[in-house]
Amino acid sequence: MFFVICSIFLIRQCASDMTCSKIPNLEQVTKNERLQNSTFLELVDKSLLRCVQYCFQSAACQSFNFQQSYGFCELNFKSRIDSSIEVAQNFVTSDIILWPERLAGPCWNHNCPNNTLCDSTDSLGFKCVVIGCTNDSIFINSVPSYQFPFWSTGHEVPRERVCETGFYPSNPVICQSNGTWSNFQCIPYPSSCIEVQQCSSAYGDDEYWIFPEGRSKVKLYCYGMDTSSPEEFITLHFPNSAEKSYYVYENHSSCSVVKANDTYITDNNMGKSIFHKVKLTLHNLKIYRQDHTFANSSYLAYAYGSARDCATPASSPCPVLGKMVMDFRLTSFYIDSIRSSWALTSSATSVEQNVTYSSNRQTFSMNCGGDCGGCFFNNIQMEINEIYEPETNSAVLPQCV
Ligand SMILES: *[C@@H]1O[C@H](CO)[C@@H](O)[C@H](O)[C@H]1NC(C)=O
Ligand SMILES: *[C@@H]1O[C@H](CO)[C@@H](O)[C@H](O)[C@H]1NC(C)=O
Ligand SMILES: *[C@@H]1O[C@H](CO)[C@@H](O)[C@H](O)[C@H]1NC(C)=O
Ligand SMILES: *[C@@H]1O[C@H](CO)[C@@H](O)[C@H](O)[C@H]1NC(C)=O
Ligand SMILES: *[C@@H]1O[C@H](CO)[C@@H](O)[C@H](O)[C@H]1NC(C)=O
Ligand SMILES: *[C@@H]1O[C@H](CO)[C@@H](O)[C@H](O)[C@H]1NC(C)=O
Ligand SMILES: *[C@@H]1O[C@H](CO)[C@@H](O)[C@H](O)[C@H]1NC(C)=O
Ligand SMILES: *[C@@H]1O[C@H](CO)[C@@H](O)[C@H](O)[C@H]1NC(C)=O
Repeated sequence: MFFVICSIFLIRQCASDMTCSKIPNLEQVTKNERLQNSTFLELVDKSLLRCVQYCFQSAACQSFNFQQSYGFCELNFKSRIDSSIEVAQNFVTSDIILWPERLAGPCWNHNCPNNTLCDSTDSLGFKCVVIGCTNDSIFINSVPSYQFPFWSTGHEVPRERVCETGFYPSNPVICQSNGTWSNFQCIPYPSSCIEVQQCSSAYGDDEYWIFPEGRSKVKLYCYGMDTSSPEEFITLHFPNSAEKSYYVYENHSSCSVVKANDTYITDNNMGKSIFHKVKLTLHNLKIYRQDHTFANSSYLAYAYGSARDCATPASSPCPVLGKMVMDFRLTSFYIDSIRSSWALTSSATSVEQNVTYSSNRQTFSMNCGGDCGGCFFNNIQMEINEIYEPETNSAVLPQCV
């Protein structure tokens, strides 16, 4: 049996004869721990001593994680005190400052930049070997996990990270072997359907991610892409309806409902529309209520955001039959209830009931009617939902050719 207790005084010996097959009880290392979210370079098949030396070779290295059996050596750009630490069996961690500088050899006092490793193969001097690019010359968008001192050579930065929101890189952005980034420009994403059309003639009527000036991206359906004036629509995923109800009360005592006869329906301009998409005026985010391009109507088409009936004159004790539903769940929008407004028709007997916005303002419903009157929105103001975003794959991210 030999348990080699490597102390600081024996390190040189360990390095030369490699007999330290177990992690020694060095005072510098903390066992069964690993720094989280701090690693910028991972190496395998290294000894503890080699890991210490690698850390010395990098100006960015403040500490390392080491795992003996596979020789994992993870260089960290944070020290133990600045980092969150997880329990990790068979790992040790250590701050580089605790180790004697002579282990660095000629690199003990190097001034190599963060994206290089000091190479001490020449026993007298050192040179700086490029292993990555720093992000100095490049805007790197909100890295969610953590930041690191450089991106390794050959690495392509995910395109959504390269430019500011609303822009994308003209070319793949790759860290070249000399530590500089490949050339690219940041190009704005289309901010309207007509800009999508101008991007590429291949883009037809479809769902697209569009970036209204200075705003978060929204999912919109572009319609009329083969015309000179494409239009923006919001695709609805739940029933949306507007009507002048073609039901009436057969008997105002029992409140029994019956569908009106066709003469009565026609004479009173009754009808109902179910909307599958609604037209959005993009520059002010208002709904264009009169559009029925993507609506199915029974009898007369009714404008989005209206509810009327001919069933409930003031004398009627029965509930109104007109109903409107607006439901923007699973879209990029919600209804700005403060800036939206509705009114009663001139019919003095109109009554409205059950006016309900959902708490997130994504849905609205209202029962309204009267003596052939009811309620209608004169302004439906939408807002971009910053909390919910539709599924990435549910729309095309346009890129200009
Ligand atoms: C190099 O990296 C370290 C650790 O991440 C950092 O503190 C330091 O500011 C970096 N130096 C430069 C010049 O970016
Ligand atoms: C930090 O790392 C842990 C585990 O490696 C991970 O679960 C967590 O999401 C990371 N935190 C951040 C902010 O990246
Ligand atoms: C990129 O550099 C800037 C400053 O130069 C810094 O604030 C930012 O955190 C860096 N991002 C990454 C991902 O390293
Ligand atoms: C780095 O390499 C690229 C591609 O090989 C080259 O175009 C560029 O000029 C080089 N930059 C420097 C600073 O050497
Ligand atoms: C109307 O309903 C009431 C209550 O159900 C009933 O008593 C009355 O007979 C009904 N009138 C007609 C005309 O059906
Ligand atoms: C249609 O209904 C109205 C009102 O309910 C009624 O006055 C009229 O007689 C009906 N006409 C026919 C042809 O049934
Ligand atoms: C409803 O309208 C859509 C287009 O908005 C159309 O494709 C569909 O055929 C219509 N359905 C019915 C039952 O009319
Ligand atoms: C209002 O809503 C309640 C519950 O959903 C319903 O019972 C009632 O009939 C509604 N009122 C009208 C006028 O539709």
